[in-house]
This record gives sequence, structure tokens and C-alpha cells, in this order.
Amino acid sequence: MKDFKRTLITSALPYANGPVHIGHLAGVYVPADIYARYLRMKGEEVLFVGGSDEHGVPITIKAKKEGVTPQDIVDRYHNIIKKSFADLGISFDVYGRTTSETHRRTASDFFRRLYEKGEFIEKTSEQLYDEQAGQFLADRYVTGTCPHCGNEHAYGDQCEQCGTSLNATDLINPKSAITGNTPVLRETSHWYLPLDKWEPRLRQWILEEHKEWKSNVYGQCKSWLDMGLQPRAVSRDLDWGIPVPVEGAEGKVLYVWFDAPIGYISNTIDCVGDDWERWWKDPSTRMLHFIGKDNIVFHCIVFPAMLMADGSYNLPDNVPANEFLNLEDDKISTSRNYAVWLHEYLQELPGRQDELRYVLTANAPETKDNNFTWQDYQARVNSELVAIFGNFVNRAVVLMHKYYEGAVPARGELLDIDRTMMAEVQESVKRLGENLDNFKFREGLKEAMNVARIGNKYLADCEPWKLIKTDPERVKTIMNLAAQLCANLAVVFEPFTPFSAARLAETFHMQQLRWDMAGRLDLIADGLVTEKAPLLFEKVEDSVVEAQVEKLRKTVEQNLLDAWQPEAVKSDVSYDDFARMDIRVGRVTECMKVPKSKKLLEFRIDDGMGGRTILSGIAASYQPEDLIGKEICFIANFPPRKMMGRESNGMILSAVNPDGSLTVIGPQGEVKPGSTVG
Ligand code: 2FM
Ligand code: ZN
Repeated sequence: MKDFKRTLITSALPYANGPVHIGHLAGVYVPADIYARYLRMKGEEVLFVGGSDEHGVPITIKAKKEGVTPQDIVDRYHNIIKKSFADLGISFDVYGRTTSETHRRTASDFFRRLYEKGEFIEKTSEQLYDEQAGQFLADRYVTGTCPHCGNEHAYGDQCEQCGTSLNATDLINPKSAITGNTPVLRETSHWYLPLDKWEPRLRQWILEEHKEWKSNVYGQCKSWLDMGLQPRAVSRDLDWGIPVPVEGAEGKVLYVWFDAPIGYISNTIDCVGDDWERWWKDPSTRMLHFIGKDNIVFHCIVFPAMLMADGSYNLPDNVPANEFLNLEDDKISTSRNYAVWLHEYLQELPGRQDELRYVLTANAPETKDNNFTWQDYQARVNSELVAIFGNFVNRAVVLMHKYYEGAVPARGELLDIDRTMMAEVQESVKRLGENLDNFKFREGLKEAMNVARIGNKYLADCEPWKLIKTDPERVKTIMNLAAQLCANLAVVFEPFTPFSAARLAETFHMQQLRWDMAGRLDLIADGLVTEKAPLLFEKVEDSVVEAQVEKLRKTVEQNLLDAWQPEAVKSDVSYDDFARMDIRVGRVTECMKVPKSKKLLEFRIDDGMGGRTILSGIAASYQPEDLIGKEICFIANFPPRKMMGRESNGMILSAVNPDGSLTVIGPQGEVKPGSTVG
């Protein structure tokens, strides 16, 4: 690897049209933060840049829906997102926003430079236009059928079902998201970045010089490059965004994917001022983009082409993109409100930041999509964080207090078992560092946990609680090494679970945690008096899991209700057909479950004509006793029918609800049993 002097870490700027969720965290922010913390612990110079992406059509659509301005929307979510990241311990050096003045200036200057160098093509083409709304339909302002997979709800810039990036004019049956109208085609001119011009250089740079990139990233880049690159529009006909800073561009703004990555530069400027060029242009700076897989093309092809067109910038050294995280076997979705939202998690499970960081890392979608379940969350916290890490620290510190009033004893001669344990710790720490160097955070975390496992095994094998009676000198050595192991845990867990690592460091009065301390067994001085055992992790009770699963279930139920549409009306029938059906009112006098049937209830109905029995498949929707005394409508002239060995004489009418449950239909006022309905 090239010898770099400093590392600029960027993390995708989340759209400020909603809060961030666990998918964002697992894919981007937790791994980026682990890496930033790791490098800082190694004493490297690091700048970790984050911020909100505050332009783009979804923001204006949301503002319109709520009757507020786009600025109101981005102010709201920028603040929520920024605070929740800070509360989770994401250690950004700067968290900026793309509506800042610095960003407007930086993005405008960037565009103008490329414009003046002749790096854009100006092209007139036909675009979708909503005549009623009086505007062009860029990106998410239009929906329609995806020409690749047939998804009827694809957007003008992307199909979320098959992941294909689209142009609005590719959509079949396009519809305006503003009015629902079918748009017309109208001519408009825009500036395009000729990606085809940069294709040979991009090929050489990625496919030849960066074979070490993660295979999901390399593979996606190769497939884009093999398809051949086309010029890409960098402006839009919209009124929310950074105005195109050249003459004759009224009503046009920079495309959000042109300005957003420049946000990394603007936020650097906001953080370090005039020193920003050292982070972006000095070849001894290494740049890394942490992103999710949907952003690969923009960070590996489009933004690098912009940087190449400028000519004075570094290119990213690596783009360790992750795949997606699902939630309880379903896609996480902002629009369907189906997610575990970070700000809600922090409110509902206070003080449990490290648990979330741990579970999302242990389960990170590094090489393939992965699934988050609350049950797995509970299992990992209870059987790993509590039972292995927390348990070891607790045992070691409690014994230290029991035997020595908390003072770490000096150790005597080492035995083979001690030396083996120390060698194992050093091996684990070595593998941990290698994994982190290669962005393998899941594997790295396993090695960190392995240090705690080694500690537990060491105590179990040495049994100091037995030896204290027969060989108290030997126990001093064991407890000294146990203290050193605790100190090691504070070091190796700092990038992953910084809050617990800090508590552990305080327990042992460690002033700072540096990476070169990992694997050393002389970190705690003889005689140091430790604090009482810290409560590092608490068990997750079943009730917590149940409440979270129930919350998701309610969201799914609400989504079903929101998406529900009445069935299409059936073909016409004549009045005579209808009149042949004899619908009557009846009163339920008895109702009971039919033995061995999950579906059927047996009704005794007062029909005003001596009574009848009807069997109905509504057992899943009602308790029999709830229906007794109710008035219902039934079809009286169905021929008798045998069901489960019983005879049914008619059919009870009911409405079908969005979730498939049934509601029995009856008269609104008092009606005599046997009355006809028509
Ligand atoms: O996909 C997204 O959420 C984008 N807002 C990411 C932008 S990353 C960078 F380019 F700003
Ligand atoms: Zn599709």
C-alpha cells in the first residue's frame, strides 16, 4: 500500500427528508466511525466528514405534502439526524449541510470551473412536462413502469425494485407525482458531463489500479464500464437546489448528485478553513468514501469523473461500500415508515448505544444483504456482550475487590498457561488490526470479543477462587493478568463500543487508549486501585423485543390500510338476477365453534320463520359469544349445503377488510327478523 500521511474519511450525506435508520447505520456510519476511531487510536491524522444532503426532489415533494417549505423540511431533519448521530457516538469532525453558504459557493465554483474549461456539453432534448403543474418532471416527480423489471412504481431516476438507474423518459406509462396526469414531452436544454470521455481513464484507474477494492464494488463498477458510459445531465429544471451559475440558466439548478459529493469538500472547508486543500489535493492524503451500494456509481464513476475533469483533486483510494440491511425479513423503507429509526431507538432504549453499534457490526451487510431481527439483537446482547465481555470484566474486578480491596497485585513468575493466554491475545489483536485495515469490521469484532473469551477461559481454567486458599501468591499473578486483559478490552473495543470502553478505561484509570497498547500485558501498574465493577451491559428482556416487534407489526398494518383500494366493480348484472337472491335480516340466537374446524362458526338464526342453522367461515375474525344477539343479513335461498358433517342453510353476509379479516353486515336500526333486504 502507498505510504499516506493522513486519511480523509467521507460518509454518504443522508437526505434530510427523514431521520436515519439502522440500514444507514450498518451500511455506512458505524463502519466509517469504527475506522475513524481506529486510525485516531493509531495516532494517524484523520478528518471524518459527514453532513446532510439537502437538495433533491423527495424533499420538495415532502414539503408540498406537508404545506411547508423545503427549507423547513431540511432544517427539521438535519437537526434530528445530527443529534442522533452525536448521541450514537459517531465521531464526525464536521457535520455540515448542503444548504450552507459555503456549499453554495463551493459547488457553484466547481461547476463554473468545469464550464469554463469546456468540460460540459450543452444539449437540448425532450423531457417530461406536466402541463397542469407547469413544470418539468425531473427524477422523483415522475413514476411509471420500469422497462427492466415491470415494477409499476419505479421513479424517474431509479427503480427501487431492480436497482436500475433510469432516465425519466425510460418509464412506461409515466405519471406526474404532482398531479397524477400523463406528462407530455417538451424541449429543454441542460449541461451534461461526458462520462464517455473519462471512460478509458476510469477503466484503467478502477479495473487495473484498484483490483483490491471489495468485490461488490469492483463488480458493479466493471459492469457499468462494460455497458459503456454516456454523457450525464448535471442540471435540472427545478426551483429547489443550487442555481446553475452561468448566464441563461434561469430556472435551472445543479442536479443533486452533482452538488452532493461536492458537499464533502464544502464541509471540509467549514471544518478546517484554508487548510482544506491539503485534505483534497495533497497526494499524500488518502481519501475513503463510506457508502451504501446504491451510491457506488456516483462515488466510483460520476464524482471521480468530475474530479478528473477539474484535474487538481485526488481520487478516492478506496470505496468500501456495503450491501443493504433488511429488517425482520422485509426491506427497510423510509416511505413506508418501515425501519428502526435511530432517534426513536435512542429514546426508547436509552443508554444502549453500544448494543446497537455492536449488533449492527456483528451483522453488517459487508458482502451480501443481511437481516436485522430483534430476536437476534437480544441474543447477541445477552449471550455475547453480557455473558462474555461484561461477565469477564465483572468477575475480574469483583475478585480484585474481594481479595485486594481493588488494588491490582504485582505478578510473580509466569506459567505456561499464562504465556499461552498472552500469545492468544496477541494473535487475536494482530488479526483484529489486519481485519480493520481491510475494512472487515465483522471479522474484526469477532477478534475483539475473542479477547474477552480468552479471559473467561483463563479464569475458568485457573480457578483463582479455589487457589486463594491454597496458593494466594499464584492468585496475584492470575489477577494481575486479568486486570491487563480488562485494559486490553477497553482498547480493542473502543472503535466498536466507545461508551463501554470509556467506562472500562475509567474503572482502571487509563488516561488514554492507543492502538499500540493492544496486546500488551503491562498496561496497568501494580497497586493501581480500580473502581468498583462497572455495569457495562444489561440483559435485553423479552418485553423489549416484544414491544419493538409489535411496533413494526402495527406499521405494516397501517401501511396495508393506507395502500388499500376497493376492488374493481364486477361486470353488470340485471335487476332480475339481483331480485332472484333472497336477502333477509336475522338475529343470532346461538353461535359456537365447529369442532375440528379453524374457520367455521355455527349460527342458530332467528329468521322469523321458525329459525335456521347457518355455517360461516368467520371464526378467525370473531369470538362466537360476541355475535350472540346481533342482527345480521343472510342469503336465505341458497340450497342446503353440508360442511364438516353439518348442514348450512344460507350464507351470512360480511365485508372483507384490508387485512383479510371479515366484518358481519347487519341493519343499522331495529328490524324484524325475516325482513327482506333489497
Ligand atoms: O443516497 C443518499 O442518501 C444520498 N443522499 C447520498 C449522497 S452521498 C454524497 F454524495 F453526498
Ligand atoms: Zn426495475
